[in-house]
Amino acid sequence: MCGIVGYTGGKQAYPILIDGLKKLEYRGYDSAGVALLQDRGVTVFKKEGKVAKLEAHVGVSDVASHTGIGHTRWATHGEPCDRNAHPHLSRSGRIAMIHNGIIENYAQLKTELLKEGYVFHSDTDSEVLLNFIEDIQIKNECSLEEAIRIALKRVTGAYVILLIDQAYPDTIIAARKGSPLVIGIGQNEHFLGSDASPMLAYTKEVVYINDYELAIVKPDELILKNLGNEIITPYVQKLDMELAAIEKNGYDHFMLKEIFEQPQTIFDSLRGRMDAQKNQITLSGIDAIADKIMAARRIIIVACGTSWHSALVAEYVIEELCRINVEVEYASEFRYRNPIISSEDVIIAISQSGETADTLVALENAKEQGATIYGLVNVVGSSIARISNAGSYTHAGPEIGVASTKAYTAQLAVLQLIALKIAKLKGTIDDQKFTYFIQQLDAVPEKVQWILDNQVEEIQRIAKKYSDANDVLYLGRGYNFPTALEGALKLKEISYIHAEGYPAAEMKHGPIALVDETLPVIFVATKDSYHEKIVSNIQEIKARKGKIIAIVSEGDNRVEELADDIMVVPNCDEIIAPLLAAIPLQLLAYYIGVERGLDVDQPRNLAKSVTVE
Ligand code: M6R
Repeated sequence: MCGIVGYTGGKQAYPILIDGLKKLEYRGYDSAGVALLQDRGVTVFKKEGKVAKLEAHVGVSDVASHTGIGHTRWATHGEPCDRNAHPHLSRSGRIAMIHNGIIENYAQLKTELLKEGYVFHSDTDSEVLLNFIEDIQIKNECSLEEAIRIALKRVTGAYVILLIDQAYPDTIIAARKGSPLVIGIGQNEHFLGSDASPMLAYTKEVVYINDYELAIVKPDELILKNLGNEIITPYVQKLDMELAAIEKNGYDHFMLKEIFEQPQTIFDSLRGRMDAQKNQITLSGIDAIADKIMAARRIIIVACGTSWHSALVAEYVIEELCRINVEVEYASEFRYRNPIISSEDVIIAISQSGETADTLVALENAKEQGATIYGLVNVVGSSIARISNAGSYTHAGPEIGVASTKAYTAQLAVLQLIALKIAKLKGTIDDQKFTYFIQQLDAVPEKVQWILDNQVEEIQRIAKKYSDANDVLYLGRGYNFPTALEGALKLKEISYIHAEGYPAAEMKHGPIALVDETLPVIFVATKDSYHEKIVSNIQEIKARKGKIIAIVSEGDNRVEELADDIMVVPNCDEIIAPLLAAIPLQLLAYYIGVERGLDVDQPRNLAKSVTVE
């Protein structure tokens, strides 16, 4: 979390930094700030709140500068306020620094510095690290670069840091461990960012910086070193992304745009990977570890949040089609609970951002114990993609809305392919069934388009009707139990309404006590092998006067008669149903959030990429 940007080159830095911060605001929006190298030294502007507030605060101040750094914050140490906003200035006022991550041993470093007479102006771990670096520089009479190297060897935790020092004109020094950093290469200019979006308008040539690397960035020079001061040759990659992909393109919100992109993104995630004619699925990542999968005693899927929900769907599908034991783990639990892992385990990591700290560390631990890691990631070149032994990209394109929508359905689509591919390898599926599922998947983009063309008005009406609810219960069974969890998560994030997802039958064991005439209960009740059972569950809620909103398959008059409101999805195989049922729930959460006047793209307290534990 936190977004960082930097620029050094011939252009004016300030507008580039501000524009970059706006693109990275999804990573945190508690405060924003910039530091500029000017003739008179380092100038810092910072303000609590979003980037727009920073711009208003800067007003007509002199911002002329060709080198600067900027930060948008998701608060960890210290409340969101001007004082805790980045950049921080060192005691001498000579060096400014921004930081994304957490310095775990900052308290110990702070105690040492306090003894030396340092005074701190913020509650942040970042200000401690900055002064620790300056203290080393002064005591050792060394360069800033050398001081950073020495300091980072003593630091535990995660960081990307960017520093400018008035003694080093045109220069930004950056270092990373555990948080993302991309450097864009222009004509006599360089761009730095937490992701590539701030530089996309200027260059497509980028270098992804690795852990324990330090970059000395000048307009016409990029020097990369490790912490041992050895030079590393930068590996320049070409970005395969267009600027339009990170703009709203006429939609009111990124979330709405991303929901409406799903026919295309699901198509993109399947494109070139399945061939109904040849009865074949091509996933080179699975081929690369086919021997491991064949020998695996189980598959463990590790993820957080929405990605964890797609993992749950995958558990049901893979166990059904491939007859391999699948376990789904919250990354944050898995990394700390000393799980039994061996070289016979294949771990699938699911992550939109590819930077989620808990998932990343869980994988590092599992890899050390010999497990094979398969990354299912959306952001190309991200940390999880890079530490995986093999993997597949979801190809959903940049997802900017904090609530995950298109990345989720792309994950589901690729997980279906993975399940089918493994089933074919293991011989647990016959050709006829295999072809049938390929055809089912092939039809998904069109069916999603049908929902978007035919259900939006009705969902808007339903959203209006229930937008004042205090609590909402989401119930589903089988493949759609995770859909209920995901629907509830979407509503919580976007509308701040308390929502809970439950397996529909489990509701009798407690949550049914919540039901009265004020409680909306959303049933994911598409036609599947559990249908009779879920109809009974609907009856049970109806008997207690709960309001029933049901997602139903086209033509299902029975549930329609029981429900107060319905959202319709096209018929499909039950294994595919989560891909369709997710769409109305995303729309419902979106329109309820809008109805309540909330900032759906940047809900309070959240950040898109959770790079701290
Ligand atoms: O980038 P990741 O998929 O690893 O992120 C995991 C969660 O932080 C993420 O899915 C989060 O729950 C979303 N805000 C859900 O909409």
